[in-house]
Amino acid sequence: MSGAPAGKARLGILLSGRGSNFVAIADSIAAGRLDAEIAVVISNRADAPGLAAARARGLNAVLLPSQGLEREAYDRQLAVELRKNHIDLVCLAGYMRLLSPWFIREFPMRILNIHPSLLPAFPGLDAQRQALEHGVKFSGCTVHFVDEGLDSGPIIQQAVVPVIEGDTVETLSARILNEEHRIYSEAIASLLAGPRLVDTESSGTPAR
Ligand code: GRF
Repeated sequence: MSGAPAGKARLGILLSGRGSNFVAIADSIAAGRLDAEIAVVISNRADAPGLAAARARGLNAVLLPSQGLEREAYDRQLAVELRKNHIDLVCLAGYMRLLSPWFIREFPMRILNIHPSLLPAFPGLDAQRQALEHGVKFSGCTVHFVDEGLDSGPIIQQAVVPVIEGDTVETLSARILNEEHRIYSEAIASLLAGPRLVDTESSGTPAR
């Protein structure tokens, strides 16, 4: 990435909670399905189980508390931590804070997110509940680039999950989550295997 030759792609994971998508990515790397390394896992919440899981795996796990900080001020701290770790891609994995436009411009087309619906349907919170309440027959999940809108950036990969008679938010969420765990790693792998990500170093906003 960024014109750097050899070496594995370095992922920076941002999370706020459970961290099952992060664990799935770490498992894919361990199983050799994803040729990358997790350079840093950053949580904005001290009590995030995902942060504990990162520590348990011996990864570079960083707590950067966000409480009381204005959005861009916090994001500037985040960027310092990510740059210190020379990351190539930022992977949001249940990261429950909106990113500032400043941060998104700092890492253009290098921030990924996973969302539990078939975007552009049901952006925002409670996507599985929105899908059930709407009465759709199929939902799913989406890996996409993050832009300045709400869950609106270019789509990288999706998986379809049928809604079954009698589904609750919990049962549908669990089936969607299984697919999330599969496609997040696949989407990262496909990006890394594709044409090189745009070298942003010359524009003064290097990704590593
Ligand atoms: C997932 O459903 C993901 O799609 C959404 O937040 C949830 C995070 O789950 N963005 P986990 O923390 O990865 O287990």
